[in-house]
Amino acid sequence: MNKIIDTIKSRRSVRKFKEDKIKEEELLAILDAAIHAPSGHNDQPWHFTVIERKEMLERINREAKEEMIKSEEEWICKIGKSSRNILHDAPTLIIVSGRSDTYSPLIDASAATENLMIAATSLNIGTCWVGLVNYFFKNLENIKLLGIKEGYQPFYAIAVGYIKEGYEAPKINRNKEVVNYIK
Ligand SMILES: Cc1cc2nc3c(=O)[nH]c(=O)nc-3n(C[C@H](O)[C@H](O)[C@H](O)COP(=O)(O)O)c2cc1C
Repeated sequence: MNKIIDTIKSRRSVRKFKEDKIKEEELLAILDAAIHAPSGHNDQPWHFTVIERKEMLERINREAKEEMIKSEEEWICKIGKSSRNILHDAPTLIIVSGRSDTYSPLIDASAATENLMIAATSLNIGTCWVGLVNYFFKNLENIKLLGIKEGYQPFYAIAVGYIKEGYEAPKINRNKEVVNYIK
């Protein structure tokens, strides 16, 4: 129909990345797209922490999984015990946080995140939303460790990088029975 709708529809979670980081200008462009999202009360309560240091990425994965092993939810525990890297070995991770004293920080941060992901897709950059990173923040000290300011809560992360050659996201169906009309 048009380019933007095509881009939105072509976005898929990417779980295999090349090792090299995306270019600085690409990173800035997707972050800039993020901050153009709408926000309740125009609070713009989002904050992004860009992590590219390998040791830190390894630590986040390791400590999150150590917490996941303790979970009573079987599927979480299973991932914790597996060899899977919950950050999908992405070269860049963006932690998305929100300012707690605002009207709708999680909703606003999520609107910004979708902007970021669509912008990334338009630049042939892969992204994957990583809710599991929350297990890393069970240890509240880790919020400080990443320099996330007082009053902000980390919500989740986005793994970002160039898509590994040959990667194909699994087929999924879109449930279309999600609309009712009053005409
Ligand atoms: C709130 C939320 C949390 C998610 N957490 C994870 C995660 O921890 N790991 C992961 O690989 N994918 C995660 N995803 C990605 C979903 O699995 C994915 O969006 C869904 O399967 C649909 O596939 P698609 O993104 O390719 O359309 C998350 C998505 C959302 C919106």
